[in-house]
This record gives sequence, C-alpha cells and structure tokens, in this order.
Amino acid sequence: MQVLDALGVAFDWDEQYGGMSAVEQAGTPLPDATVDSIRRTGLALKGPLTTPVGDGYRSVNVALRQEFELYANVRPVKSIVPGGRYTDIDLVIIRENTEGMYVGFDRTFKVGNDPKALAQATSVMTRDGCRRIVRYAFEYARRHDRRKVTVVHKANILKATSGLFLETARMIAQEYEGQIASDEKIVDNAAMQLVINPAQFDVIVTTNLFGDILSDEASGLVGGLGLAPGANIGEHAAIFEAVHGSAPDIAGQGIANPSAQLLAAAMMLDHIGEIEAASRLRRALETAIVKDKSAPRIWGAVLRPLSSPGLWPAGSSNPCARCGQQTAGIAPGDLCAACTRDVTRKASRIGRLVAIVTTLLLAGYLMLTLRSMPLASQTTARIVGAVSAVAWYLLTFRIVQRIAFEWLKSQRS
Ligand SMILES: NC(=O)c1ccc[n+]([C@@H]2O[C@H](COP(=O)([O-])OP(=O)(O)OC[C@H]3O[C@@H](n4cnc5c(N)ncnc54)[C@H](O)[C@@H]3O)[C@@H](O)[C@H]2O)c1
Repeated sequence: MQVLDALGVAFDWDEQYGGMSAVEQAGTPLPDATVDSIRRTGLALKGPLTTPVGDGYRSVNVALRQEFELYANVRPVKSIVPGGRYTDIDLVIIRENTEGMYVGFDRTFKVGNDPKALAQATSVMTRDGCRRIVRYAFEYARRHDRRKVTVVHKANILKATSGLFLETARMIAQEYEGQIASDEKIVDNAAMQLVINPAQFDVIVTTNLFGDILSDEASGLVGGLGLAPGANIGEHAAIFEAVHGSAPDIAGQGIANPSAQLLAAAMMLDHIGEIEAASRLRRALETAIVKDKSAPRIWGAVLRPLSSPGLWPAGSSNPCARCGQQTAGIAPGDLCAACTRDVTRKASRIGRLVAIVTTLLLAGYLMLTLRSMPLASQTTARIVGAVSAVAWYLLTFRIVQRIAFEWLKSQRS
C-alpha cells in the first residue's frame, strides 16, 4: 500500500480480512464484509491466505474465485534477476480458475469401520467454461502482441474432461488461424519442455490443476515464487495476488521477497487503466533487483569467500551442482561441502600457478627497468616494485582462483 500510494495513484483503501486472520477476527475465514467489499469495488489486492492441508476450512482463495466467477487466472513469468539459468523468459500461463479438480467434489467414504476407506475427487468441465478460458487466452495474446498459444491438456488419459477442453480449444484456435499460432502439448511433456526449452512458450492455456502446478514450476525458472504475480479475472471483479502462499517456513523473518505482490499490484494498475504508474512500478522494481544483483557480482565475487552458501531457507535441500547429491540448506546451483573443498583446492592451485608465473614475469620486467635507472632513485623504485609485485600476486591469485572456482563448479563430476 505504501508503494502504491508513493506512485501517486489516489486509492481509497478498504482493508478487509480473509483466511486464518479472519477466523481470529470474525470466526470465519471469509467474512461477509470482505465479500461485500469486493462486490462493491470489483477489485482486490489480496495477500496470501493459509489453507490448512487435509481436514479443516475450505480454501478461501478457491471460494473467492468461485464466488466472483474469476474464471481466468493470468500468471506472467518473466526473467528479471540477472545471471539466472535463463535470462530471456517471457511467457504467460492462463489457467482456468473455477472448474476441473477444484470444484470441491472431493470426499471420503466409510467402509466397515474405516471412515476414510475410500477417497474420491470429481473433476467438472463445461463446454462454456472451456470456451471462455481459451477465448480469453487468444484475446489476451492478441491484446498483448503475443505470437502463440499452447494448449496444455491430458486428453490421452482424461478423455472426457481434458478431452472436452482440447476439442473446444481446437475449435477456438481455428477462429484465430492466420493471426495467432497455436499448438498442443500433453501436460507431462509440457512440464519437461518448460525446464529444457522455455523459450518455445509464449501463452499457455490450461485447466485448473495443471495451471496451478505449471505456474509454480515456471516461476522456478525465473527466480522462484517471490517473483511470480497473478491476476484472477472475471466479468464483474478482479483479484490480484502473488502466486505464492503464506510461506510459513519463512514468515516473520523479514526475508520474504515482496516483488511478487508488487508485480501483482502492477497488474492491478494495468487493469484499472493506470498503465503509466504500472510501468513505473515495474521499472523501479527491476532497477532495484538488477542493481542489487550486479553490484556484488563484480567486487563481491572477488571478495566473497569461495564456500559462501546461497541464501536459502534452512530445512530445504537442493542437488549439489557438481556431484548431484541432494544436500540440505544449499541454494540451487551451489555445491555440497565435499565438492566445495575439492573445487576450492583445485581452483587455488590454478590461481597460485597463474599468479606465480605472471608475478615472475612482472618482477623480471621491473628488474630490467631498474638497471637503466640512475643509482639515486633505485632504492625507492625497488620498494615500489616489490610492493607492486606482492599486490599483483595477491590480486591475480584471487581473481584467477575465483574464475577457476566458478568454471570447475559448472563441470559435473
Ligand atoms: N493464493 C494464495 O493465497 C495461496 C497460494 C498457494 C498456497 N497458499 C497457502 O499457503 C500456505 C503455505 O503453502 P506452501 O508452503 O505450500 O506454499 P508457499 O507458496 O507459501 O511456499 C512455497 C515455498 O516458496 C517460498 N516462498 C513463498 N513466497 C515467497 C516469497 N515471497 N519470497 C521468498 N520465498 C517465498 C516459501 O518459503 C516456501 O519454501 C498453505 O496454507 C496454502 O494453502 C495460498
């Protein structure tokens, strides 16, 4: 709210509660006052809400989407952070938001003495629902100068539900032939293709559950959930939110990335026609992220200890970039302790070798120059020469060691 106010857009904020904080305040996760407020304004900027896993309250997020028929969930995925695995990702996932596995027909049955002997979930797709989400995706592509829409489905197995989605998508795609290209992918293949070649995607349109999973996956390609915004769009209301949830593992530590929420706010500004303010907000955010990342990359890389671990939530684990061993507490792309030791040893050896050879060459050159100097100035020149040679040795050692470390780190053992 402070950032949006600082942009100079005159908001008349109406703060309402939802989720667990609303249970504490009003005894229900979705108070009438919250619903009435959104109905009145047709607009909400929503923070993440906790939904207990398993038994308990039904998801407030899903309830809100269904209450206001927010059928289109738009989730842009764009590279901002420099130096990531991919630097040129710019795709949008459009997820059907009200049907499929999220309709709420999910129950257990008692058999004998076991009250949960059997569990069943039902997915519901309607022709109208498929039609409006696919049309939304093609219209979105047209409005935003996008070239292609990829329809992601599982019609080979879910022949009725996913089959209806694919069949309808094919009909709509025909209407846009010659204007917007389209292709189809089965969801498992799409998940793999996203990782190995994300540049082939432009706009992805898919059903509720697949869209949920693929958008978290895609956010991982550009720096994680802290950078993934989303918009829930309906005919009469729109709710903007970060893709991520309440992040209980890091909540309260002051380390959650606020960018996703701010990018969602930028989408809201676009939606209400404040295009200039939206792009100012995005520019400010990108500048802050790029500046923050590039400054320490030059000097920080030289000064930072080679073994410095990435900032990554304790308790999570990632594969070591070199040996592939799953290791707790390391960031993606980092090394486990054994590989760090090994790579540091080798990198130091290379650094020392290059530093010694170049320092000897420099010392030889200085000696030759000294000989041709008048005797009176030779003492000072010797001291300056010795200090320069030591500084040269140390700096060369450190820079070459750092470069060698990064190179060796990327060589899988
Ligand atoms: N739209 C929503 O409100 C929404 C969406 C997803 C999940 N949820 C709810 O949130 C709760 C927690 O779910 P979860 O832990 O599976 O998913 P999550 O999205 O809250 O967190 C997943 C991982 O991403 C990290 N992360 C999330 N946001 C981050 C940020 N801004 N900066 C840095 N790291 C961030 C977390 O630390 C965690 O490791 C559940 O109750 C779930 O139902 C709500």
